[in-house]
Order: sequence, then C-alpha cells, then structure tokens
Amino acid sequence: MFVHEQEADTPVATMPGVMRHSIESAVESARTALSLGIRSVILFGIPDAKDALGGGAYDEDGVIQRATRAIKAALPELTVIADTCLCEYTDHGHCGPLCEVGDGQWTVDNDPTLELLARTAVSQARAGADVVAPSAMMDGQVAAIRAGLDEAGFGHVPVMSYAVKYASAYYGPFRDAAGSTPSVGDRASYQMDPAGGYREALREARLDVAEGADYLMVKPALAYLDVLKLLRDEFDLPLVTYNVSGEYALVKAAAQLGFMDERRTVLETLTGMRRAGADAIITYHALDAARWLAGGP
Ligand code: PBG
Ligand code: ZN
Repeated sequence: MFVHEQEADTPVATMPGVMRHSIESAVESARTALSLGIRSVILFGIPDAKDALGGGAYDEDGVIQRATRAIKAALPELTVIADTCLCEYTDHGHCGPLCEVGDGQWTVDNDPTLELLARTAVSQARAGADVVAPSAMMDGQVAAIRAGLDEAGFGHVPVMSYAVKYASAYYGPFRDAAGSTPSVGDRASYQMDPAGGYREALREARLDVAEGADYLMVKPALAYLDVLKLLRDEFDLPLVTYNVSGEYALVKAAAQLGFMDERRTVLETLTGMRRAGADAIITYHALDAARWLAGGP
C-alpha cells in the first residue's frame, strides 16, 4: 500500500485500482485485507516534502511511522512490513544521498546511505513494524540494518531482504505512484543487470544470508521465475517474490481493453510464482486474488 500525507486518497493513473491512501484509509484497507485472510501488508510512504538526504524516511513522525502506528493500533494481529529505502523521500529520486564522481557524474554514496537505512529501519521498528524490508540494493545494507536493530533493542525484528533485485523497466508505474523516478542517471549502478546470470544471483543472495537476512526476495517476479526457482533450491530461508507494478499494469490494461480475462490471468500468474518456489508473494492483486480464492466475484 502507498500511504501519503494527504487527507484524501488519490488514484495512481498507471495502476488502475491502486490508490495513494491517507493514513485513515490505509487502516481501512488493511482491515479489509485481514478480513479476507491476508495476514500481512507492506507499506510505502509518500511524503509531502522531499530533500537530498531523504529525511522523511527516518523521521519519527514520518508518514510510514504514523501509518504503522495507526495500523498496529487498530489491527495488532496484522503483520506490518515496512519498505526500507530512501528513494521515495529524496528530491533526486535515488535510493540514497548522491556524491560526485567527477565529470559532472553522480552516484549514490553507498556507506553514508547504510547509516541512514539503519536509522530508517530502527524508526520503523519503533513505530511497530513487524518486519523491515530494505530495497535500496546498497552493499552491506542487511548487516548495517541488523546491527542497528540489535543495538536499539529490536533483535526480534526480522529483515526481509530484497536480495536479488534487477534494474527493471517493470518498476515504471511504481515510480509514477511514488514520484521516485531518478532526476539524473538511473539505478543501474546499484540494481542488478537482468543479463547477469545465476552466479551473480547466488552471490547476492549468499551475501545477504551471511549478513543476517531472515527472508530472501526476488524482484521482479515474472521475468525472473527461473531465479526464484534457483534460490528455492539453494536456500532454506523463506522466499518472497515481488509481483511488481509493471506486471500489474500489463494485466490491468489488457483486461480493461477486453483482451484478457483478468481473474484467470491473475490466478494463473500467482500460481506460477508459487510453483516456482515463492512462500509469499507481494502483489497489488492481493485483495482481488483473496476474494477470488474465497469464491467471491
Ligand atoms: C524502492 C522500491 C521500488 C520498488 C519497490 N521498492 C522502486 C525502484 O527500485 O525503483 C518497485 C516496486 C514495483 O514496481 O512495484 N527501492
Ligand atoms: Zn529505493
């Protein structure tokens, strides 16, 4: 769920059926999810103000922190997962602060970002997040967050690592929703090359396991089901896949045009992710799928 600091919900044009929720409406949507048997939600914050250091991400009164407190107060049995990244909060849209590398070129400054990600995770845990999910793809982020959580007394809060995350065109609608399209450059220096192959995927996952990850994730899902299966066979940790915004948009657009049967397409797609080895699927189809699986229209 996208949560913003406005009073009213606003639709995401590129993701029919998805809203940027007010905090109050996020609580209601979470309630609906729980009533349909969905046991966890993942939250993305869209702050009113952005800055170079992504300060809204680790503000104790930031939008995710407030939304988490509100949801946990209303629905203590629902697992709240907080996406831990800075790109929704930086004015340049990158996943951490930038540093100049000469010739007018900029890149994300990896190590200072680690400290900010750890601060973000701790503030999310303090607000009641049950799980933190770092998606920045900084080297060492799982270790930094684990250490930060442990030091702050949140040793029990697990880290769901976006371990294998590709630089993907399929994130387009999400960036529209979150206003996080990089204003300069792209994310190819920290996200993975889709052509990278299995050894790189295994290396990324192994590093995160060594750093203390409690879950592994493959993202996006559909073009990477082989990678999901690979991780399923290599690791014993719970495995998550992220059925991302562009995958959602493709199905919704085709369904709206009458080209595809939405219900059958979605359930077949989610079944494929499950068959490839996902223990959990993050999907914008969740409410619909849960309704359909319960026999509803
Ligand atoms: C932020 C983040 C992104 C997504 C999840 N967390 C965007 C990105 O890396 O640009 C994408 C999710 C989606 O497309 O649904 N780091
Ligand atoms: Zn990010």
